[in-house]
Amino acid sequence: MTADCPGNRRCFLKAGGLALAMQALPALATPHARTPARLVGRGQRPLTTAELVPDEAYVFHYPYVSTPCFLLDLGEPLEPAELRTEDGQVYTWPGGVGPRRSIVAFSAICSHRMSHPAPSVSFINYREERVRYLDKAEQERTEAGVIYCCSERSVFDPRHGARVLGGPAPQPLAAVTLAYHEDGDGLTATGTAGGALFERFFERFGMRLMLSHGPRYQEPVGEWSRVRPAADFSSNQMRCG
Ligand code: FES
Repeated sequence: MTADCPGNRRCFLKAGGLALAMQALPALATPHARTPARLVGRGQRPLTTAELVPDEAYVFHYPYVSTPCFLLDLGEPLEPAELRTEDGQVYTWPGGVGPRRSIVAFSAICSHRMSHPAPSVSFINYREERVRYLDKAEQERTEAGVIYCCSERSVFDPRHGARVLGGPAPQPLAAVTLAYHEDGDGLTATGTAGGALFERFFERFGMRLMLSHGPRYQEPVGEWSRVRPAADFSSNQMRCG
């Protein structure tokens, strides 16, 4: 018998069962705090959330000079959600921020084979219109407001932490945590949550990233990050579905 259950067999069994149940619980991953970066518009002027057009995708880079992210105002309050990475870590997506709690950001690096927006082309895009896709059970679905990667047709749900709706992606897009500044109506990126793929991204695309972003491509983005419409960032947006 343990010191907590002196001579009490029922108490001992209960305590043992509780310990086993706790061992079976998956680890709860905390968000990864990173160097904050203020989101800015043209001329490094702090971006205001009032400038964001609802249901239009924007691109900025965070936490590194060359790692693209989507910024979206989805137009409705978004509640936190509990999600799981490919390796079984459970994490909490914090939901939307801003005056209507409708603004979210995610890494735009697909969690399947890391397709991502580049200036010449983007195979992964936010789709405000209704699109068709196959869900995890291979059933055809139609939905608006999803992030669709046309490389191998993975589909993510930005209203629920970019969880996977269909396709081969093994985990949600990593989330970018945002702080909202009521005073000035601005936004700061503060970290990431979920399965970030930055090391693998650098290994796979390093040469091309160096050509487009220079030798600092693996460095933190710095005190601010420029936000621009996704349609301006990538001259060709491949749209499937
Ligand atoms: S890289 Fe996005 S689905 Fe394969």
